This record gives sequence, structure tokens and C-alpha cells, in this order.
Amino acid sequence: MGVMEPHRPIIYLNNAATTWPKPPEVHEAVNRCLALPPFGSGRTTGTQGEDYITLAREALAGFLGAGPPEHVVFTQNATDSLNLLIQGFLAANGDGCHVLTTALEHNSVLRPLRELERQGRIQLTILPFEDGTVSPATVEAAIRPETRLAVMTHASNVLGSVQDVRAIGRVLEDRGVYFVVDGAQAAGHIPVDLRTLPIDAYAFTGHKALFGIPGTGGFWIRDPEAVAPVRFGGTGSSSCTLLHPRGMPERFEAGTHNYPGLAALAAGAGFVRATGPGAIAAKAERQAAFLVGELRQEPNVVVYNDRPGLPIIAFTVRGMEHEDVGFVLARAYGIVSRTGIHCAPLVHRAIDGGVGCVRLSLSWFTTDDECACAARAVREIARNADPQVGTA
Ligand SMILES: Cc1ncc(COP(=O)(O)O)c(C=O)c1O
Repeated sequence: MGVMEPHRPIIYLNNAATTWPKPPEVHEAVNRCLALPPFGSGRTTGTQGEDYITLAREALAGFLGAGPPEHVVFTQNATDSLNLLIQGFLAANGDGCHVLTTALEHNSVLRPLRELERQGRIQLTILPFEDGTVSPATVEAAIRPETRLAVMTHASNVLGSVQDVRAIGRVLEDRGVYFVVDGAQAAGHIPVDLRTLPIDAYAFTGHKALFGIPGTGGFWIRDPEAVAPVRFGGTGSSSCTLLHPRGMPERFEAGTHNYPGLAALAAGAGFVRATGPGAIAAKAERQAAFLVGELRQEPNVVVYNDRPGLPIIAFTVRGMEHEDVGFVLARAYGIVSRTGIHCAPLVHRAIDGGVGCVRLSLSWFTTDDECACAARAVREIARNADPQVGTA
């Protein structure tokens, strides 16, 4: 059976949530993986097939410039990675420290940290942003003697703004603060070379710009000893010991891996590498600039991010609720967007009074024609809106 097409042509502009379509290589990788019995040392006597997990580890390490491959850990998604890193940092270093984060964060950072704060286990400072970014000076000014951990996004999922993690990392490194970066949006969109960045751990997800499938992700960690494992179980290695092995990558991985998902992730990362992160970033910048320019021409449209670093456009239409804009885009034009609070409540509090907005997000597969259709559609909707009505 071939790949099923949607029931009518759609323009999919919700790629910041999850990318679609996936490259053919990704479909093929999943099919190939399912066609043969799995092979993985320690868990089978079979010798056919490929060791998808090792191959995926090598692929991701190469992609992120992150050696050695064993320091790439696979998890369920970026949220899982961030939880493991945050909880594990506390398990290794004890409660009571001061933690820095930013108002740009996704709930996958805010909620684990806020929960620890609620439990009285950390003190938390949430740094404000300006023009979509948090300045290194703001970070530096917030560091206290008891600050031990900083968790920050590489790129905002609402504003598409890219943080200067190199400059922020230098500030944190100088003051001995452990730096965890959420690369869920950035990896695949902008070149990441972890060898050269002052970052201690980098979380990624499989299903966004890396073109893998949902339910895959991971993190890279520079010094595994800095974070304690908080999940234990079968590893297929050292099976006679009752204590979970502490070597890498077993230290942080327990239970059976998502083989087809990791095969897809390796294929997706391979696709991005072969296409060229530079080419991907250049096309995204051109298309995002086109959309911003078009939307800016409508007095009824409020664009919240003028120069996004990722192909994400956040806007509202005066006189219309964001969900109504999304509804008309979907029903009248076949354009899939996302509306509301995009799991980043503090970003919305800062830009739209916490009401939410419409987000168009592109991928390498978004065509110029699709961008032109989307621009025409939003402009038409805005011209028909009554700015005296609505909330924006
Ligand atoms: C910035 C950011 N961080 C984390 C996540 C969570 O990613 P995952 O769905 O892989 O857990 C997302 C997903 O939308 C995101 O945009």
C-alpha cells in the first residue's frame, strides 16, 4: 500500500508543532526497519538487520557536532529529555539551588522548573526578553552565588527568535552555572555545532525540523557525571547486576528503544545534512521575510515578530479571535495553522496580553506558491475583518 494523501490538497503551515510531509527517506527507513527482525546487542541472538540505535547515535552525534556518539542519549521527546536533565541535575547536586530560565520557554521547561519551585526544591528566576531574545547582560545580572543551573531555549516556538547561546553560555561558564539548552525548535533549522558551544547539555526532538516521527528525541551531554540517572531498568547489558549500569549511554536509557522511530530520526537528520543546513536556513529566511512583508501591509494584521530567525510568523487580525482566523484559513483556504497559546504562556503574556495568536510555521518542503497563497488568504481575511469588534 502506498502513502495515503490527505483527502484534499492542504497547505500545511504547522511545522513548528511537527513537520509534514516527511522526506521519502524517512518513510523508507521505517519500512525497512519493520521489514526485518530487530538487531541489537544484548537483546537477541539474531544477526540480520541493522543496529538502528547505534547508527542513529552516530548520525545525531555527527549532525550536532557532538562527540562521542555515546554521549547522545535517546528519549521519548524533548520534554522527556528536559525532565531527565533537570531532575537528574538536582539528583546529582542536591536541592536548594537557584535556577535561571526565561520567559521565552515552552512549558516543557517552565513546568518541570515551576513544579520543583512549588515543592520548595529550587529558587527560580524567569528572565524577561526584549525583541525576542534574552541578553547575556540580563543573564549575568541575575546570577547569584547560589545559582547552579540555567535552562533556556535555543529558539522560541512562538517568535522564531534565536538566542545567542554562545554569548550566554560564556557568561554562565565563567560563573560555574550548568547550562542546559532546549534545541527542540532550532535543531534542523539552524546549524548547531556543539563542539564549539559553551553548553553542557542540549535537548532535541525528532519530529520537528529533523524530520523524524513523533515520540523520538534525546539529548547530548558533555559530562554525564554532572547529571544523575533518575530512570532505571533493563538495558540489555550487565544484566546480572541489580544496579543500573552507569556507563554511557545506558546511564540514561532504560527499556526498549523505539527502533523504527530512531531509524526515522537518523534518516531525517541525514536528509537535513545532505540538503545542507545553510540552504535550509537561507530558504526559510527568504520565505519568512516574504510572509512578514505581505502581512505587514495589512493595517488589520498585527505581526509579533518582524525578523524571525526560524520560519515562524506570529500574528493576529484586529477584530477577529485567533481561533476564528485559524478556522477560516483551514475551511476556506485549506491552510493548516496553529492558534492560541503555543505552550509558551509567558511569551503570550508579553506580546498579546496572554490571549494567544495565530502561528504559521514553514519547513524545507513549504513552496513559494504555498507562501503566496497563505499571504493572500490572511490579507483577504484581514480586509474582511471589522477592527472595532474583537480583542486584538
Ligand atoms: C521550544 C520547544 N521546546 C520543547 C518542545 C517539546 O517538544 P516535544 O514535543 O518533542 O516534547 C517544543 C514543542 O513544541 C518546543 O517548541
